[in-house]
Amino acid sequence: MATVLSRLMLNAFKAIPIQNPSQSGATFKSTKVCLRGIRNMSTTLLDIDTPLVPLKESRRFITECMEAVGTPTSHAEALADLLVEADYRGHYSHGMNRLEMYVSDISSGTCIASATPKVLKESPATAWVDGQNGLGAVVGNFCMDLAIQKAKNVGVGWVCAKGSNHYGIAGMYSLQALKQGLLGMSFTNTSPLMSPTRSKEAALGTNPLTLGAPAENGDSFVLDMATTAVAVGKIEMQKRKKEPIPEGWAQDKEGNVTTDAETAYDSACLMPLGGSEINSGYKGFGLGLLVEVFCGILGGSHFGPNIRRWGEFGRSADLGQCFIAIDPNCFAPGFENRLSQLLNHIRNMEPADPSKPVMVAGDPERLHMEAVDKAGGVRYLPNQLTACQRLSESLKVAPLKPLS
Ligand SMILES: NC(=O)c1ccc[n+]([C@@H]2O[C@H](COP(=O)([O-])OP(=O)(O)OC[C@H]3O[C@@H](n4cnc5c(N)ncnc54)[C@H](O)[C@@H]3O)[C@@H](O)[C@H]2O)c1
Repeated sequence: MATVLSRLMLNAFKAIPIQNPSQSGATFKSTKVCLRGIRNMSTTLLDIDTPLVPLKESRRFITECMEAVGTPTSHAEALADLLVEADYRGHYSHGMNRLEMYVSDISSGTCIASATPKVLKESPATAWVDGQNGLGAVVGNFCMDLAIQKAKNVGVGWVCAKGSNHYGIAGMYSLQALKQGLLGMSFTNTSPLMSPTRSKEAALGTNPLTLGAPAENGDSFVLDMATTAVAVGKIEMQKRKKEPIPEGWAQDKEGNVTTDAETAYDSACLMPLGGSEINSGYKGFGLGLLVEVFCGILGGSHFGPNIRRWGEFGRSADLGQCFIAIDPNCFAPGFENRLSQLLNHIRNMEPADPSKPVMVAGDPERLHMEAVDKAGGVRYLPNQLTACQRLSESLKVAPLKPLS
């Protein structure tokens, strides 16, 4: 039986319809109450003493910065939607934190701001796409739209792309299928950053995977995760905060586990999900390889160690990505109902620590979005705000304007 506390917390898990972050605009001042007891990653950054920035304003700032380096408005808006969604969901590592990277990718010419994807090969259920070195957000939206269209026509759509760039939170694309009542999956390869179990060097990326599956009344299961112990952005955030990282996230250049965020960032050797071999890190390594099979190997892009190094801007990324949409109505009737039963059973389980209710994937993000809606915006770290100020000056874009 669920405790009273877990029942109370469950109110916070009630299905919140997926919203366009740019429409968010509530007015409460404090977000602390909603955030207690939930895993640090998605929530604590709001708990700092910097001014609130409305999501609409973040979107305006990102769009204008991208336009200032020659990105067509629709592409700049696609990128802004992606980054704002990441901040909204509590994945700050993949939100505003990434803007400078996209700006420099475009201004250095290693990514083509105006490029649009092209279908190279197609069947009723599949497509192979050339991203033509365009923005990952543009390629991702194009491919997932195509997969959704195919799933609506023939039950399943499976689209692989080559010639893409960093596409942000993988969940952005599974959510698009979810909004149409479909199951959505997506995968991307990334710069080599993960040391395969027993290795001193990196050979695979953080290779995220996501599954979004619809349950009843707008509820859902949204798994969106790196196949390394963490996304590299999380190490970057610890570095920005000047805080150590937990054991099992990364190795130093000698292959030893490190807790120093700077050393971890410099060695660029993340550990696979699970950490060391004794903790079954080889399973995370296997999942990373699975992602690569669907992306670089199936899509014909760069793969594994051939992908440019993290932070290397001299050559194009040529990333491989994969997008799948599945119509649950092609299978046993009652998918949403069964999934709701399962999710609610799990959420109602007696927690080992009463202050930490059992959650399913997607719940931490839901709580974070609820907190952002109540607060009326997000809080960025001071050095993130400094980076935004720097961009505003160098690109001659109106500064990011927090709530007064
Ligand atoms: N484009 C890229 O190159 C790239 C690479 C790596 C990661 N990413 C993105 O970075 C983001 C962060 O990835 P991550 O692996 O650090 O995410 P994470 O570890 O914060 O969360 C992973 C998943 O676990 C779920 N979760 C978290 N706490 C939970 C709990 N207590 N109980 C049940 N479920 C829980 C979350 O809902 C999420 O689905 C993701 O959006 C990912 O797509 C992108």
